[in-house]
Amino acid sequence: MSETESARPPIAIDGPAVSGKSSVGKQFAVRIGYRFLDTGLMYRAATWNAVQNGVDVNDSQAVAIAAERMEFSVADDEQGGNLITVNGEDVTDHLHSTQVDDSVSAVAAVGRVREIMVAEQRRLAGEGDIVMVGRDIGTVVIPDAPLKIYLTASARTRAIRRHRDFLAEGTDVELEDILSSMERRDLVDSSRADSPLRPADDARVIDTDSLTFNQVVDLLTELAKEVL
Ligand code: DC
Repeated sequence: MSETESARPPIAIDGPAVSGKSSVGKQFAVRIGYRFLDTGLMYRAATWNAVQNGVDVNDSQAVAIAAERMEFSVADDEQGGNLITVNGEDVTDHLHSTQVDDSVSAVAAVGRVREIMVAEQRRLAGEGDIVMVGRDIGTVVIPDAPLKIYLTASARTRAIRRHRDFLAEGTDVELEDILSSMERRDLVDSSRADSPLRPADDARVIDTDSLTFNQVVDLLTELAKEVL
């Protein structure tokens, strides 16, 4: 769809790992009739592609070349989430492996990778009617969005939530391992030179520690009514 008079402005949601951005953002998008884009999946796809091609993820030049050669596309799935293809193959199910988790912050810190991803994200944002979730959406990708949300929660709360998800799917992982891997990622994401994780100056910061999933979705829906 090209930009039309009826297209409504894009909405930005940022926050640290496991802050609930993706699950909340997806449900919120359904509520307000928007598309949803989890931009973390795009950096994960670049990581998966680099690893598949035997690229050392700490070699930023090699990572950049692999990203330039990668053909990827993002589509909507039937549950309001995203499907990612790399060189024609649907790789969505590979993108949350521990191997990708452990390497994605290094890949996402490479400037050339960010240029490629941000260009595609801005193209999609230009179509309007989209909730975009990531780390730099409100600060870099669509700083003019009329609604910018920064979702956060304490590290321990986030680790407990992720641990519960793993247990529900029958995966046995130690809570402390989840906590340390998450904290490592947060540190890299928020201390990198290019587009570090931080709330935009005019973002609405929401601490979800003592809020339920539905309460957060309700709150975002109320905020959206103020601007749409
Ligand atoms: O949200 P996530 O855990 O799927 O993100 C994966 C990685 O990608 C994480 O290290 C942060 C990075 N990322 C980013 O740098 N910018 C974005 N807009 C989205 C994700």
